[in-house]
Amino acid sequence: MDCVSFSYDGYEYLFDDFSLKISSGESVCILGANGSGKSTLLKILCGLAYPSKGSFWAFGQKITEDLLEDNRIAQKFHRRIGFIFQNSDAQLFNSRVWDEIAFGPYQLGLSKEEVRARVEDVLTMLNLKNLADRSPYRLSGGEKKKVAVASALILNPEVLILDEPTNGLDPKTQRWLIELLLELNKRGRTIITSTHNLDLAHAISKRALVLSEDHRLVYDGPCHQALADSQLLMSVNLIDEYHHVHDAKEHRHRYTHG
Ligand SMILES: Nc1ncnc2c1ncn2[C@@H]1O[C@H](COP(=O)(O)OP(=O)(O)OP(=O)(O)O)[C@@H](O)[C@H]1O
Ligand SMILES: [Mg+2]
Repeated sequence: MDCVSFSYDGYEYLFDDFSLKISSGESVCILGANGSGKSTLLKILCGLAYPSKGSFWAFGQKITEDLLEDNRIAQKFHRRIGFIFQNSDAQLFNSRVWDEIAFGPYQLGLSKEEVRARVEDVLTMLNLKNLADRSPYRLSGGEKKKVAVASALILNPEVLILDEPTNGLDPKTQRWLIELLLELNKRGRTIITSTHNLDLAHAISKRALVLSEDHRLVYDGPCHQALADSQLLMSVNLIDEYHHVHDAKEHRHRYTHG
């Protein structure tokens, strides 16, 4: 994206003059405190929000609202970029897990047989077969997240965008998702995640983009370097310091969010 400014309708600019480039095959993590703009930035990257000024390019094409109004072009674009929302409930709307996962391929006009084969593959791959007939609304948070991941993966997108993917997941499910993302990245997929969980960033991303609380891009570079820079992390409220008293001795502790 090039010199992008963005504001929600009727609000002042959230991002001003933002430029960044993400190359195919990268694994990038957007780090920032609550309200720093992670979700908004991801929405621009997947064509759910449009820059108010400047331009956003993807796959060699300038992405505009007018362009994505053309259904054929929009379908093609959304097939190449899979988005997993911060809140799975916002993403699940079918009455059966099987139908939920099949929805995207049906929209693309794939044949019944092809859709069935793909759904079965994805259910097996993500170990979701036992949930196929359940209602997505009645699943646990982690199960919903898995269904959302399955719905995105079934289209085999080149770019996978995940907003706070491990929030609310137990350690085993987190590990499962991290392994899956690492494997997809190894197979050439571009992975873009947002989080305030520093362990997750460390586990999956080589590059970090750090947003300050006033929505500026204050760091773009190797993830490990950002994570080692406690001054940077403190300045953007990703780690905190508090006073603590033990045995009448006062000292300071650091702890991390998430
Ligand atoms: N639809 C909207 N209309 C107006 N303002 C919005 C809208 N969505 C988000 N905002 C504001 O934009 C800012 C950035 O929000 P965003 O959701 O991108 O932050 P975030 O970094 O994803 O936060 P979190 O860690 O809590 O998910 C916040 O101040 C928020 O209040
Ligand atoms: Mg968010």
